[in-house]
Amino acid sequence: MNIVLMGLPGAGKGTQAERIVDEFQIPHISTGDMFRSAIKEGTPLGLEAKSYMDKGLLVPDEVVIGIVRERLGNDDCKNGFLLDGFPRTVEQAKALDHMLEELDKKIDHVIYIEVEKDHLLKRLTGRRICRQCGATYHLVYHPPKQEGVCDKCGGELYQRDDDKEETVATRLEVNMSQTEPLLKYYNDKKVLRIIDGNQDIDRVFYSIKELLRGQA
Ligand code: AP5
Ligand code: ZN
Repeated sequence: MNIVLMGLPGAGKGTQAERIVDEFQIPHISTGDMFRSAIKEGTPLGLEAKSYMDKGLLVPDEVVIGIVRERLGNDDCKNGFLLDGFPRTVEQAKALDHMLEELDKKIDHVIYIEVEKDHLLKRLTGRRICRQCGATYHLVYHPPKQEGVCDKCGGELYQRDDDKEETVATRLEVNMSQTEPLLKYYNDKKVLRIIDGNQDIDRVFYSIKELLRGQA
C-alpha cells in the first residue's frame, strides 16, 4: 500500500504515521525527519535545510525531490511506503508522479488530516520529542508517564527549534498557501480522502484504519 499523509504543521502526521507503519508494516518516509537527521550529522544537506527550517520556510523543491527519489528507490519500499510531509507543493506532487511512473508504482491513498488552526498552535507549542527514538508527545494531549522521559525507550524529551511561537506562525502561513492547490491536485485525481483531525489521537487513527481497510 502506497500512502501519502498530508496535513498542516501540527495536524498529527508524525503521530499517526508511527501508528500506521506499525499496523501495516510499511516504511515511514518523513522528509522533516530526514532533514533533522542530516542536521544532526552536520552534512551539507543538513546545513542547507537548516537555513530554511529555522525560519519556518520550505526547503527548495529540487532538494526535497532529490532525497525522496533516492529513498523511494530503496528495496524496503517494494511492498509499500508511507510518505509523511511530502509532497508539499504541486511541483513536488508532479515530480512524485514521475518517480512512481518510473518505478511502475502508483499512489493508493492521499490522506489529508484536517485540523482547525487554533488547535494547531496549541499542538505545536506543547509538542515534545524523544531525542533517542523520535517518538512524539504533548505536554497536555499526550503526556509521557514520567515528565521529560520517553515511555518507549527512556530517552530524553526535547522541544524542536521550529516549535517556538514566532517560527510556528510563519510555518503555518507558508504551508497553508501551498496546501490549497495541492488538495485540488489530488482531488482532481480522485485519490484524496479527508480525515477529521480535531478528534483525539486514537479516534483519528481509528478513522484512518477504517479508510485504509476500505471500510470508510
Ligand atoms: P516536518 O517535520 O514535516 O514538520 P511539519 O509539516 O511542520 O509537521 P509537524 O512535524 O510539525 O507536525 P505533524 O503533523 O507531524 O504533527 P505531530 O504528529 O508531531 O517539516 C519540518 C520542516 O522541514 C518544514 O517546515 C520545512 O522547512 C522542511 N520540510 C519538510 N518536508 C518538506 C517538503 N516536502 N518540502 C519543503 N520543505 C520541507 O503532532 C503535533 C503535536 O500534537 C504533538 O505534540 C502530538 O502529540 C499532538 N497531537 C497529534 N495528534 C493529536 C490529536 N489528535 N489531538 C491532540 N493532540 C495531538
Ligand atoms: Zn524514545
